[in-house]
Amino acid sequence: MHYFGFKNGQLYCENVKVATIAKTTGTPVYIYSKRTIVEHFRKIDEAFAGVDHLVCYALKANPALAIIKTLQKEGCGADIVSGGELYKALRAGIAPEKIVYAGVGKTRAEIETAIKSRIFMFNIESIPEAERISAVAKKLGKTVEVALRINPDVDPDTHHYITTGKKENKFGLNISKAKEYFLAAARLPNIKVCGIHTHIGSQITKVEPYVLTLKKIIALKAILEKSGLRITRLNIGGGLGIIYDNETPSTPANFASKVLPLLKPLGVKVILEPGRFIVGNAGIMAAEVQYIKKGEVKNYVILDAGMNDLIRPSLYDAYHDIVAVKKTSGKLKADIVGPICESGDFFGKNRVIDKVKEGDFVAVMSAGAYGFSMASNYNCRRKPAEVLVDGSKFKIVRKRETYQDLLNGESF
Ligand code: LLP
Repeated sequence: MHYFGFKNGQLYCENVKVATIAKTTGTPVYIYSKRTIVEHFRKIDEAFAGVDHLVCYALKANPALAIIKTLQKEGCGADIVSGGELYKALRAGIAPEKIVYAGVGKTRAEIETAIKSRIFMFNIESIPEAERISAVAKKLGKTVEVALRINPDVDPDTHHYITTGKKENKFGLNISKAKEYFLAAARLPNIKVCGIHTHIGSQITKVEPYVLTLKKIIALKAILEKSGLRITRLNIGGGLGIIYDNETPSTPANFASKVLPLLKPLGVKVILEPGRFIVGNAGIMAAEVQYIKKGEVKNYVILDAGMNDLIRPSLYDAYHDIVAVKKTSGKLKADIVGPICESGDFFGKNRVIDKVKEGDFVAVMSAGAYGFSMASNYNCRRKPAEVLVDGSKFKIVRKRETYQDLLNGESF
């Protein structure tokens, strides 16, 4: 469900015409629907109402302050993976006791800041990391609560770049030696091992891989408790898939109906880390057609947005629907591409879209997650503006970068 749709041939975000925003801000521009974000969060939160739980939004999907703030007001927490994400989460007002910190490469400085900020817990990905967190906590005279991230060796049936819970992936600790790892971590001073964390991948449309993972984790919990370790928190990660094309992802309600019967009897606090589910379909990227180029074998619609603005098609061959912001009569078959000097700079290939011409706007749909957050300045392009729509109002929540911004911190 989202609040982008056509009325009288014009694409709207909630009650605002996308063309109006594009004309006001210039292009490319990311446009987010506040109502979609809020409703997606609530769907997950309500689905898990039957257990003690905390929804921690995965900032990596889209760390726009305005989005974090919107979620913070809803009571949402944050899943972070860097000092920068911690900084932004705190700046947006997320309570430290709602912040969980994952990632395989936490530095000493990042750990120290997180401990001083009194975050809820660390999700530890290796024994050297546990030793480091223990040492930093000891130095600071603090004890921190932690979960160990377990790699359950489950195939989530998604793109191999975003599969994270198979034994060949760099993430987590192998389940076959989990007991050993937990006992080793529990012996370290100044950390309290109280949770198990898993995150098996992203854009997962089926519930079965989660159920399989959960069964493995619950068996592990029983083994650990026999050894005297009390596990009071289970973090089941993020990864819930969305519709880009013709996928049929599970709804949060269906997902909860399958996992809650397993979780409820445990009496643990359940943590979830959704990113894409909350923001993916809550955002689009609007761009202006620069040229229609007739090539030797195909046509090209050349936009003023490039792979630096939205890299998912180039990096994962990801599908994003592309539509003309104003419906036209007639159709055009073309590759929709950007201005960047790489053949991989495309948004869609062999697409049939409304017959657009120079100066028309198009929208790349479902671009709210891993869109702006993966944008770069490649080809010395300025990062695009971001707009948040709320009913009939819209606000620029991040200005387009200026040329001056491109010189930031540089000298010669
Ligand atoms: N928790 C952890 C520990 C994660 O590593 C991730 C995503 C999430 C939660 C959130 O997953 P989500 O609910 O958004 O699926 N750039 C890729 C996706 C990379 C996901 C990385 N980890 C893409 O554009 O598809």
